[in-house]
Amino acid sequence: MAAKTVVIGGGSGFIGTALSNLLCSCGYDVVIVSRVPGSFRMTWSELEQNGLPKNTAAVVSLAGQNILDMKRRWNSGFEQTVRASRINTTLSLVKAIEKADVKPSVFVSTSGVGYYPPHPSKVYTEHSEGGKGDYFAELCTDWELAAKLPADVGTRQVTIRSGVVLGRRGGMIAQLYLPFFFGMGGPVGSGQQYLPWIHLHDIARLFLYAIEKENVEGVLNGVSPDLITSKEFARAFGGSLWRPALIPLPEFVCNILLGSERARMLTEGQKVTPQRTLELGFEYNYPDIRSACQEFSPLIYTDDLRGDNIER
Ligand SMILES: NC(=O)c1ccc[n+]([C@@H]2O[C@H](COP(=O)([O-])OP(=O)(O)OC[C@H]3O[C@@H](n4cnc5c(N)ncnc54)[C@H](OP(=O)(O)O)[C@@H]3O)[C@@H](O)[C@H]2O)c1
Repeated sequence: MAAKTVVIGGGSGFIGTALSNLLCSCGYDVVIVSRVPGSFRMTWSELEQNGLPKNTAAVVSLAGQNILDMKRRWNSGFEQTVRASRINTTLSLVKAIEKADVKPSVFVSTSGVGYYPPHPSKVYTEHSEGGKGDYFAELCTDWELAAKLPADVGTRQVTIRSGVVLGRRGGMIAQLYLPFFFGMGGPVGSGQQYLPWIHLHDIARLFLYAIEKENVEGVLNGVSPDLITSKEFARAFGGSLWRPALIPLPEFVCNILLGSERARMLTEGQKVTPQRTLELGFEYNYPDIRSACQEFSPLIYTDDLRGDNIER
């Protein structure tokens, strides 16, 4: 029997690479939808013309322009790119699912914890209200709406609202590694703001869980159950590199580097718990920040890009 195929929009990126490798190690075929042609890939226009490959059992939406790209100024042009790269790609996947003769069993789409407006103490679960109040909350609302399939399609739907993904070779850890390694790292701003986070292996495993478990649907918070502040993160990450992590990154510097609207992602935070994720039986390999950061120690060799070492 042919292996089941999982189609991943934006599967060439940081999370998508880990997920693709995990899926392949579990016997799935993976096809990535990308702006760039290549083997085991299709472009967005090929998706539009030819539809989903035969045997597509699951579709995952992970495309999105990197919001914290320091090389890009935060202006209306970049805001448009951030938005279109998420919403148009998600809409293309939805259209392809609707047009498929044999529908995939599940569509897993991505959103962010930016859905919940920053707050110093309020605890957000998947049932909490959000989705309005600032640019990122509204972006997440529109992103989630774009992923909605009509009920008669019959494909199960899961939306994962991801926290900051921690993995050695990408995202925030890759950007912070050198400053922390040279003892120049520390908390952002006051350090009191909460930082919803999840280890790369766990977010990849959560996508796989959403694909495979038929009882899983609706919104899941893709965050660790360990609620930590920016200061606690800096202490744990610095500790894994044997560095003190005492030098804070002042808020005004973040505002200058990123623009004040975008800088709020770092200088303000939200306390997000994975209530439904836990209720639905997902078990974390990295449930606390110390175990996650230990994995970034220079003494431990892991290969996130190959993803071989992600335990199911
Ligand atoms: N990493 C995190 O900490 C984190 C946290 C919360 C939410 N998320 C969300 O999760 C998704 C995946 O995250 P990631 O860290 O894996 O992202 P990533 O590596 O920055 O990018 C994912 C993929 O998106 C595609 N892409 C980038 N810019 C695009 C554009 N302008 N138009 C169309 N496609 C574009 C690229 O694929 P091609 O170059 O192959 O086209 C890229 O490989 C993103 O939507 C992100 O917002 C990530």
